[in-house]
Amino acid sequence: MTEILPDETKRFLRAAIADPDETLQEMEERGEDFPTVGRDVGQFLRVLAYAVDAERIFEFGSGFGYSAYWFAEALPEDGEIVLTEFDDDELREARDYLERGGFADRAVFENGDANEIVERHDGPFDVVLIDHNKDGYPEAWDAIREKVAPGGVVIADNAMVSGIQDFDAILAAMEGEDPEMDAETRGIAEYLLAVRDDPDFETSVVPLGEGIAVSYRR
Ligand SMILES: C[S@@+](CC[C@H](N)C(=O)[O-])C[C@H]1O[C@@H](n2cnc3c(N)ncnc32)[C@H](O)[C@@H]1O
Repeated sequence: MTEILPDETKRFLRAAIADPDETLQEMEERGEDFPTVGRDVGQFLRVLAYAVDAERIFEFGSGFGYSAYWFAEALPEDGEIVLTEFDDDELREARDYLERGGFADRAVFENGDANEIVERHDGPFDVVLIDHNKDGYPEAWDAIREKVAPGGVVIADNAMVSGIQDFDAILAAMEGEDPEMDAETRGIAEYLLAVRDDPDFETSVVPLGEGIAVSYRR
């Protein structure tokens, strides 16, 4: 897999983040074999949520709640975060972890396909995280873009790499070529082109973790 940052830079970024609370540290041990966003992105998600004064957050693909936990601390007590997850066991774990942090009262746990669940939730959302099946990103974008509050942000994880997408093909597609792509690679490429060319959003790809695309709604 393409390395997007040198090890020394990764060490630097890690050293610049204060230790997260005990529950998050335990979640990191639990997540050693699970594709969470990781600590660098988690910290950045929390900063973004604070920066936009987030009151409502929607996640496509929550796993056992790691990214949601980073977000939850930035929400006011009457705020809301919607977690979506196919896997019922993971969602149950997410509830347990958020309860331990005292955040479960601001969380809505939705078991099923995020791209269907989003249809049942009205906006506006101040922050959205897209981190589910990669071929589902373009559909998620179509479903969520109108529900993002002006001044809100959409973050898509795996904008650059993951174990299942072709970095070179995504880059070629964004540079105007028409490479052969599998469904996951095409999903990411189409997503990045859609957000780049959307006149209502400003997008920047940030090489943190596996690369995140941050799209700000004007
Ligand atoms: C990369 S993990 C999410 C990690 C999470 N955001 C975190 O940082 O802790 C992706 C998760 O999305 C779930 N998933 C994949 N496609 C989905 C879909 N269409 N709807 C709901 N969940 C989905 C998978 O079961 C998996 O747990």
